[in-house]
Amino acid sequence: MHLTLQQLIALAAPVLLVAAVPNIQPRQAQKITVDLSRKYQTIDGFGFSAAFQRANLIVNLQEPKQSEVLNLLFNTTTGAGFSIVRNGIGSSKSSNSDWMNSILPECPSTPDGTPDYKWDGKDSGQLFLSQQAVKFGVKTFYGNAWSAPGCMKTNNNDANGGNLCGVSGTYCRTGNWIQAYANYLVKYIQLYAQNGVNVTHIGFLNEPDFSTSYASMQSSGSQAAEVIKVLRPTLDRANLVNIGINCCEGTGWNVANQHASQIISAGAENMIYAFTSHEYTSRVGSPMRTTRKVWQTEYCDLNGGWSTSWYSYGGAGDGFTWANTIFNGIVNSNLSAYIYWEGVQDRATNNNNNEKLILIDGQNYQVSKRLWAFAQFRDVRPGAVRVGTSGGSNLKSTAFLNTDGSIAVVIINSGTSTQSIGIGLTGSTLSNPTVNAYYTDNTHEASSQSVSIATDGTASASVPGRGMISFLIQAGARA
Ligand SMILES: *[C@@H]1O[C@H](CO)[C@@H](O)[C@H](O)[C@H]1NC(C)=O
Ligand SMILES: *[C@@H]1O[C@H](CO)[C@@H](O)[C@H](O)[C@H]1NC(C)=O
Ligand SMILES: *[C@@H]1O[C@H](CO)[C@@H](O)[C@H](O)[C@H]1NC(C)=O
Repeated sequence: MHLTLQQLIALAAPVLLVAAVPNIQPRQAQKITVDLSRKYQTIDGFGFSAAFQRANLIVNLQEPKQSEVLNLLFNTTTGAGFSIVRNGIGSSKSSNSDWMNSILPECPSTPDGTPDYKWDGKDSGQLFLSQQAVKFGVKTFYGNAWSAPGCMKTNNNDANGGNLCGVSGTYCRTGNWIQAYANYLVKYIQLYAQNGVNVTHIGFLNEPDFSTSYASMQSSGSQAAEVIKVLRPTLDRANLVNIGINCCEGTGWNVANQHASQIISAGAENMIYAFTSHEYTSRVGSPMRTTRKVWQTEYCDLNGGWSTSWYSYGGAGDGFTWANTIFNGIVNSNLSAYIYWEGVQDRATNNNNNEKLILIDGQNYQVSKRLWAFAQFRDVRPGAVRVGTSGGSNLKSTAFLNTDGSIAVVIINSGTSTQSIGIGLTGSTLSNPTVNAYYTDNTHEASSQSVSIATDGTASASVPGRGMISFLIQAGARA
């Protein structure tokens, strides 16, 4: 049934959804009230990357394992239901080590020379992954370059920092490569489109405050604005008017805010789709001051050894920790998207740490509970509007109104004991609703939780201590 919010409210009757907990002696049910009239940001989705050839781990899996992993990532009823894929746009001349090869391994001798693009039909495994994502209904593909090809840069190398030739403060013997870089990004988008994947967002920087031995390019926000002012009209001329420019992938929230304020000062804010931040050097904090959307586009626990725990003393790789991290970004920091770092990785890389959601070990795989923390947000579909919630002690709650009229309520139980929960909507509630719930804790992974709806519209569900529960409320069939 496809209902608008207005139709949904029209169907409503003054009945409270109240919890009754099976099998345990319930403490008093805590009421969470969803206020559909209090509207916040629009959600674009949740995602991950498989950059630096990690996607090849999925490419190389045999069936049925390959389908199992794809379902874990993208299936909206049995997996995390991810709705965004962040692909790395390669800048390296080769695929040595885990580098992402570029579609322009050699530049023409001058910036206005004809580029000799080379498309290998694989893009480090990311094309295959993206094509599979399309089959699951994923619509948001973020192409993000870590660097321009080295031949467009001050250091003539895609690694070790350096700047794009042509931005203020640079001098390059070969001239200004900003337009050539914009053309190159357009070519990447066109190649993906020819292969059945519509790139929706483009980023031309990654961690521009960090210089390292792999693909990296430095930029201030002011320099980024100079590129944006060329890239936007270049996209428009190529009929890519709906492609959003994201910027600037700073290593942390503080630097991301600096980039944003410089871009705003340079008058380029309205050419941005989303300001993007990572959380490594400083965590996502109070909302960024911008009219644009804000995405957290890369974070993970880089230090901990591989862990599949939901809760083990609150460790940085715990699923429960990630549930709170995602919740904080969306609810307290006005983010419209939360993107993990690697979706998959092997055992050898970085001493088998927690930077991946799924460990792919040859033909076997293991799933971390971090993936299930994301899965608890899987009914928050792209285009959902976050709405207000109130009530409940030791409960963190948030709710979203989806474009199909359904309501996703996401709750973290911060307490250590089981809680019964009653969900109500302000003023009125749905009559005859269909309510489904699922929960995750140490021994469950988005497991269906029984919700019985009594004749008076009462619904029941409970959430274990340090567990997470999500409700999907849909209008019932009309009598
Ligand atoms: C998701 O998983 C369910 C259950 O296995 C399956 O029926 C459905 O086809 C899957 N969805 C997609 C898009 O493959
Ligand atoms: C990609 O965009 C084209 C042109 O707008 C459209 O015809 C096509 O259906 C889209 N493909 C997918 C998989 O969304
Ligand atoms: C939240 O982000 C939206 C853009 O998505 C913006 O319009 C709104 O002002 C922001 N709210 C706060 C409190 O910063």
